[in-house]
Amino acid sequence: ARVDKDGYKHFMAKEIAEQPSVLANALSAYVTEHGIALPDPGIDFSKIDRLTMVACGTAFYACFTAKYWFEQLAGMPVEVDVASEFRYREPPITKGTAALFVSQSGETADTLAALRYCQGKADKIFSVVNVSESSIARESDLALPIHAGAEIGVASTKAFTCQLNVLLLLALKAAVERGRMTQDRLEDILEGLRAMPGTFNAALDRDADFSSISSRLAESRDVLFLGRGLMYPLALEGALKLKEISYIHAEAYASGELKHGPIALIDQHMPVVVFAPKDSLFEKTVSNMQEVMARGGKVVLITDAAGAEAAGEDVWRTVVLPAVPEVLSPLLYALPAQLLAYHTAVAKGTDVDQPRNLAKSVTVE
Ligand code: G6P
Repeated sequence: ARVDKDGYKHFMAKEIAEQPSVLANALSAYVTEHGIALPDPGIDFSKIDRLTMVACGTAFYACFTAKYWFEQLAGMPVEVDVASEFRYREPPITKGTAALFVSQSGETADTLAALRYCQGKADKIFSVVNVSESSIARESDLALPIHAGAEIGVASTKAFTCQLNVLLLLALKAAVERGRMTQDRLEDILEGLRAMPGTFNAALDRDADFSSISSRLAESRDVLFLGRGLMYPLALEGALKLKEISYIHAEAYASGELKHGPIALIDQHMPVVVFAPKDSLFEKTVSNMQEVMARGGKVVLITDAAGAEAAGEDVWRTVVLPAVPEVLSPLLYALPAQLLAYHTAVAKGTDVDQPRNLAKSVTVE
């Protein structure tokens, strides 16, 4: 079926805006009133020693986020890597390894090659894809669709949130099978997840805040993104989105690494976007933020109401998002990563949906 922009200026804008409904749809497929209803991945996570996750680009950052979930919720050893490195490194795949490949298109050449490398070595090969009739889906023992619908914008948006959704559900399933999660805690998390489409809608109401900040980001040569814990992969995704479509040099650091290098770059010309809901690591991130502000750096803080209050008055710009349970924050903070990049690109007048030199699906090495 032909997909059109439905009155939006760009496919990317449409795909950002439709996340609440797409997420609701994905949730109706995988979460019922009785709990998680994923198709049986054919894996007993209590019998698996290690999970290896491989992908490229935005899908890789979904895997990196999932590493935190699998480790923290399920106590599961996890390795993540970009496919182009993994495939040539000759990583030993020991018995007891499940290999998981994440790809929107299901056709990315490096990811497919990494999957083939694992065939005959891993106990189980499964994938999380958007296109169910893709090579990666076909060559997996089981492919879980993310139900994002066709994604046209080259920079991935709704596919990322839907990848996170499926990966979180897998991590929760692993946590249950490994005896690491009570039914009550699971129910709490699922409750928060069911509410996520509404939460996302509330966050979309902050659109004007993002566009006003972006008009300033558009004047910058470099932007630094910081995050800690679950927010570190989101900071990486924010930097990726910004460079992909606005062509502004952006990089992301784990907040705690600031003092080991990037702090040397900080001056009044360097906006520093900090993703920091008021979670268990918030105090630590705030002290990193103060190190930035003490050197004249302009901090853009993306947080919740409690975080905004605790952060003090020296922050250059703050956007307040709804508060969500810590474990669900990556889903919500995908939105600022997308909206900052989108509005910055619009302010600069770059080609949002078809950025130069990039392809939607990279089917050659
Ligand atoms: C390209 C796209 C990205 C995407 C990456 C991986 O670089 O421009 O948006 O994240 O490929 O694609 P995949 O289809 O494997 O998720």
